[in-house]
Amino acid sequence: MLEAGLLLSRFLHFTATLSLFGVSLFPLYALGRAGAWGGNEQRLLRRIKWIPIVGALTAIASGVGWFVFTAASMTGDLSLALNRESLYAILQGTDFGPLWIVRLLLVCAALLTVPWWPRRTAIWTAAIGSSLSLALLAGTGHARATQGWAGSHMAADSLHLLAAGLWLGALLPLAIALRTFSSPKRKSDVLKAFSRIGQIAVGLLFATGIANSFFLLTSPLDLIATSYGKVLSVKLMLFALMLGLAALNRFWITPRVPERDSALWTRRLGISIAIEQALGLLLLLAVAVLGAMEPPGAG
Ligand code: HEM
Repeated sequence: MLEAGLLLSRFLHFTATLSLFGVSLFPLYALGRAGAWGGNEQRLLRRIKWIPIVGALTAIASGVGWFVFTAASMTGDLSLALNRESLYAILQGTDFGPLWIVRLLLVCAALLTVPWWPRRTAIWTAAIGSSLSLALLAGTGHARATQGWAGSHMAADSLHLLAAGLWLGALLPLAIALRTFSSPKRKSDVLKAFSRIGQIAVGLLFATGIANSFFLLTSPLDLIATSYGKVLSVKLMLFALMLGLAALNRFWITPRVPERDSALWTRRLGISIAIEQALGLLLLLAVAVLGAMEPPGAG
């Protein structure tokens, strides 16, 4: 029960914090200069406003859940973990406690900006607050325990988390933008902007993923010889499938969106993005499981 609670909280928290960061940054690179935000852009920003609200509220609730289940795994009992003394002791006596408070305050700050969207300063504040909260998650994972290299490992892991948010967190606002904009040219501009950022995110994910693996595995053989490695292999297979879909979108479907059957290709792109999102959620489930396992190369 404790393990299931911790796993569910981790999964929801990763999904929510990645989404909050991804949706906050999306308008800043995909919609061009603020001065050029006309009726369509304003309509899109009204249509995606629920994502940062649901994302932030889910991040706060799952964050509290993650904290309580971690406390329970420390005290060995959920009811013990819920008593004020234990919670206070963990808040005061561990690194985890204060880091958690700072992260949840940053999420609250991002949430409080939403009533002022589409003002650019409000969106920038949400992007900065959510990016810091996401990057600081590296301070709660295995990276923190890496002997002698904790700093570099945590830096790589923070970049890994931000790159994950850039890609996965942008898919939902992108799908809504394709349904909001009627002009094929405007859709194509948004797709081009996203694919530029997408390529940076994929490159960063691969490089920092290798770094993470370097610190947490003893050799590539761990990928088939250890239970941690097997879960990581499942994650890499999901990543490869997502990469294949992203390449199909980029090189086959997207170039056809501004052409004759724009509505048909937009629909096909919408379906492909939905599959990419489902694979992304499965991948984050694998990540939630990894975080609760002992890596072969830890310490
Ligand atoms: C869509 C692609 C990917 C996403 C969304 C993703 C997401 C994540 C997230 C959220 C974490 C948790 C970080 C933490 O707990 O501090 C993580 C950890 C990790 N990722 Fe990725 N990742 C992706 C691709 C990759 C790739 C390509 C590799 C390897 C080449 C990789 C290797 C790792 C490793 C080894 C960890 C550490 C897990 C642990 O803390 O035990 N990831 N990833």
